[in-house]
Amino acid sequence: MSTDTGHPENLMEKLVSLAKRRGFIFQSSEVYGGVGAVYDYGPLGVELKNNVREAWWTEMVHRREDVEGLDAGILMHPEVWVASGHVEGFTDPLIECRNCHRRFRADHVEGDQCPTCGVSGQFTEPRNFNLMFKTFMGPVEDSTAAVYLRPETAQGIYVNFRNVLDSSRQKVPFGIAQVGKAFRNEITPGNFTFRTREFEQMEMQFFVEPGTDEEWYHTWKERRLEWVKSLGIRADRLRLEPHGPDELAHYAKDAVDIEYLFPMGWREFEGIHNRTDFDLSRHQEHSGKKLEYVESHSGKRFIPYVIETSAGLDRTVLVVLADAYDEEEVEGESRTVLRLHPRLAPTKVAVFPLVKKEGMPEMAARIAADLRGRYTTFHDVSGSIGRRYRRQDEAGTPFCVTVDGQSIADGTVTVRDRDTLEQVRVAADGISDHLRERIEGEAGS
Ligand code: GAP
Repeated sequence: MSTDTGHPENLMEKLVSLAKRRGFIFQSSEVYGGVGAVYDYGPLGVELKNNVREAWWTEMVHRREDVEGLDAGILMHPEVWVASGHVEGFTDPLIECRNCHRRFRADHVEGDQCPTCGVSGQFTEPRNFNLMFKTFMGPVEDSTAAVYLRPETAQGIYVNFRNVLDSSRQKVPFGIAQVGKAFRNEITPGNFTFRTREFEQMEMQFFVEPGTDEEWYHTWKERRLEWVKSLGIRADRLRLEPHGPDELAHYAKDAVDIEYLFPMGWREFEGIHNRTDFDLSRHQEHSGKKLEYVESHSGKRFIPYVIETSAGLDRTVLVVLADAYDEEEVEGESRTVLRLHPRLAPTKVAVFPLVKKEGMPEMAARIAADLRGRYTTFHDVSGSIGRRYRRQDEAGTPFCVTVDGQSIADGTVTVRDRDTLEQVRVAADGISDHLRERIEGEAGS
């Protein structure tokens, strides 16, 4: 049964359960009862997350002449966050229910009734709560030693703008891309990995000449949407949602969200922002270092405008999982299947002997060992073949190779397709090429 979002009913609960059962995502510190809004990626989850990160990096850095990569520290000079406006303005309005003492983000609660205890009219006045995690650098815990865990990766890019420009052969327009952890002490995290306190961002700041910024903003908006579609996400569950003038962040001239139709409704998982020269100007002002660009042929000087593409890695992984999850009836039995794009699938191929006899396990082990160098390969010898297939369906493995009696006689194996359930017979010594065509062919772009 599906809901009006087109997803199966109770999808979020089903995803949480599948993620734990198959080793995608676990609650952090679960043996201690868990810690709020932090998640750990298990054996399949880390592969999926790496694959999404790698797809982004290939698209944004390796395939482009005009983007460089960066990996900046999580801890930065505290003045960075004064210059960026985060110390003063990175706040959410916090209210507390005087009856049950639960805290909420005022803009996440409708009316004056507490969503937890149901009592009305007991909220405190909203007070601004800064979302940055604070810690101390060095042995003395006083205010001069206070530093923050970065709440976004973008600032690491701005403060390295000069370094990258001076050490690479880039000229404006060009970009700097980075993937890394960010931390926010969210008041109301939730919806599994959608809003957490520790997460990864995939951000790119593209530096352009003022006056060309609007064109670049539109170019990046379209490119980013195309990339998401190239991961196999259903187009009718994606939309671009521009920010109205009163929704714009303090630094933004224009902003648009790429939204996905999650089980809880349309929500953002990536933003494209025209940040003007706000950040570089502020860092120039606060650091006293020149951050302007000098055009070599004309001698023209300007502080570049920045078009930012800012995606949450964890949130993109959640989009990928939610979009891939499917349930169907096959010959009277229900099956759960993750229809992951082969490029993103944690395991590309599983290899099974049909039964544990007559040379089948040995042949399957040899094939698995051969494939392992090229693809993430799973090898399983026990249990009914049907159960082994179902397990791989839930893991999103696109192909299962089975060694049967005929394999021993004529050197062929069957290849089962996760989505169509079709099985084709292929020569065992050609299996690697066969899979390459199907995996890399489908991976396409
Ligand atoms: N540098 C701009 C910036 O950080 P943002 O809209 O605050 O913009 C960008 O964050 C992306 O980071 C979001 O679209 C989302 O995917 C991800 N993100 C932000 N807060 C998050 C949280 N608490 N948990 C998970 N992902 C988050």
